Formats: sequence, structure tokens, C-alpha cells
Amino acid sequence: MNPCRPVGIRGSGSYLPEKALTNDDLAKMVDTSDEWITSRTGIRQRRIAAPGETSSDMAVVAAKRALESAKLEPKDVGMIVCGTVSGDFIFPSTACLIQKKLGIPQVGAFDVSAACSGFMYALTTAKQFVQSGTVDNVLVVGVETLSRITDYTDRGSCILFGDGAGAMVVSSQFEHGELLSTELHAEGEGYDVIIIPAGGTACPSTPETLAARKQFMSLRGREVYKFAVSKFVDLIQDARERHSDLPLGYVIPHQVNLRIIESAVERLGLDPANVHVNIDRYGNTSAASIPIAFDEARRTGKLDSAAGQLVLMCAFGAGLTWGSVAIKW
Ligand code: UT7
Repeated sequence: MNPCRPVGIRGSGSYLPEKALTNDDLAKMVDTSDEWITSRTGIRQRRIAAPGETSSDMAVVAAKRALESAKLEPKDVGMIVCGTVSGDFIFPSTACLIQKKLGIPQVGAFDVSAACSGFMYALTTAKQFVQSGTVDNVLVVGVETLSRITDYTDRGSCILFGDGAGAMVVSSQFEHGELLSTELHAEGEGYDVIIIPAGGTACPSTPETLAARKQFMSLRGREVYKFAVSKFVDLIQDARERHSDLPLGYVIPHQVNLRIIESAVERLGLDPANVHVNIDRYGNTSAASIPIAFDEARRTGKLDSAAGQLVLMCAFGAGLTWGSVAIKW
């Protein structure tokens, strides 16, 4: 067993549900407009899971695509790590349902809860298990069905979120995408900046909490905005310093708000052409955002122009949490 062997991204896949919810659709539900949403967030539409379609259903499609691109079978998976805050159930974990639905052997399977930073936490966890030689291939999934925990009477939040899934196979055998380093942070003082106030053990659901719509996400958007810009800048600067021997080829940020991304990109002096943006089509899909964007960048050849260079992923969200992953493509 090699105690510190290289680890890389052997394959990736993603899935977006068919139904698109446009800004005009939302303008029929709350007091908003396509012009306001587009100019304040960059979002034009987001995808919404079909009735009965669950997080594990979407995760399984993304995972199958990731395994196919990695040229591996379900039997080759040694562990499943799933980043989500909108799993099928409070428990059991969505990772266990993915294991069942894919017919993966009885390997370790668990969820990681770090909201929009969930995939950075999941990928970091997977890296440790492969690097240490404990397992050879980890299926890492980011999935959210945020439409089921979004308050569609709150115009300050319902315009932001969408559903979807992304997956990667992290492996000791790979062609591209060596995982060079990761960085994770949390600041629990900000636990209530983005929160589902009721339904947990601190405040179990009652008829009163349901009437007050406390089973849905509540957020203080302005505070998140400032936090996200500053952490985006810090994470990219830190990673560039850690890997100053490599030119920066591409950045895949959490798709939080186009203005947040543009503001950080300007502060960092990055070329916007080298920063992945798909928020116009999918909105904010929390833990699914980075693996969906990564898969899109890989499949559309955007990563090819970063061959041999540094590719950085970074995310920030509820907790508060933030983190980054640096790879060499
Ligand atoms: O990934 C983690 C979760 N994501 C987030 O938490 C999102 C981060 N924050 C944001 O993206 C932005 O803060 C928002 C898009 C949520 C809000 O944009 P903003 O530019 O920060 O607007 P604001 O909250 O300062 O509100 C400005 C005005 C307010 O009206 P008054 O008080 O100035 O009269 C809001 O009531 O815009 C109003 N407003 C809206 N108007 C039309 C808020 N939401 C809407 C809306 N349509 N959907």
C-alpha cells in the first residue's frame, strides 16, 4: 500500500431534469420580472425535477455517465460520497440509495452536508481515501432537488435555485485531473445566514412552523453576496500561491450569482473566457453546481486548452462553509 499515491479525476457525468422554469414563469408566481432577475443574478432559467423524481434518481443518471466516461463498472466502486442538503430523506443517506439503485457492492456510502460547498468537501474526503490506498475508486456525487425546499412565495430566494446532479470518479488510475491540493473552511457563527429553520431537532415541524413556511430555505442574500465575493477571491489567491509553479488555465466556480462571479473575476484580474459560467441556464444548484460545470467544461473541450495547467474549483455557502480544489489538467 502506497501511503501517498497520486489521485485524479478519472471520469465525470451530469444530469439536469428536462423541465425549465423561466424568469417569466416566476414573474407569474411572485412580484418580479425577467429584467430584474437577469440583471441582478444572470439567471434566465433553471431546471426543475419532475414530480416523483428524487435526488437519488438524478444522482444515479449522473453517476452512470461518470462511470461510463471512467470506463468502470459499478462493481469497481470502492466507496460512495454524496454532497447534498436535499437528499431523498433526512436519513438514510442518499449515498445508500445510490448504492442500491446502481447495484454497487456493499462498500462504504455516506453523505456530506456542506450546502453549496458540499462537493468541495466530498471531493476532499474522497481524495484522502484514495491517496492513502484504502480504496482505488470513489464515486463522488453532488446532487440537489432544491425546488422542494424553496419557498415559491419569497421573491428574494425562489429566483435563485435549480435542481440537478453531477458526479466524478476519483481514482488512483487516471489520465487527467490530478488532485493537487484542497482547502476547506467553516465559520459556524454564520449558521443562520442561509438556513432551513424548522424540521430539524432544534425546531421540529409543527402546524405553526409549516404555516410560517419554515420548512423552506431562508437566506440573507446581501450578507451571502459579500461573503461569497471575498471568499472566492481568497480561495483563488491561496491556491495560486500554493501552485505558483503552474499557469492558471481555468476556473470553475460555484454558480452562485453572475455578479458575484464577475466581481471576483475582476478583482483577481482573471480573463473571463477562462472562467466557467452556466448559471444563466441552470441557476444555483448548490452541491451539484461544481460537478455539473466541471462535466460541461470537460465534455465541451474547455479543459483541453488548459492541458498541463492549473484548474481551480471553488465554492462557498451555508454553514457558513467555503473551500477549493486544485487540479492539474
Ligand atoms: O449559494 C448560496 C445561496 N445564494 C445566495 O444566498 C445568493 C446571494 N445573494 C444574491 O445573489 C443577491 O443578494 C440576491 C439576488 C439574492 C439579491 O440581489 P441584491 O442586489 O442583493 O438585492 P437586495 O436584496 O439588496 O434587494 C434590492 C431590492 C429590494 O427592494 P427595496 O428594499 O430596495 O425596495 C428587494 O425587495 O430588490 C428587491 N427584490 C426584488 N425585486 C424584484 C428582491 N428580490 C427581488 C425580485 N424581484 N426577485
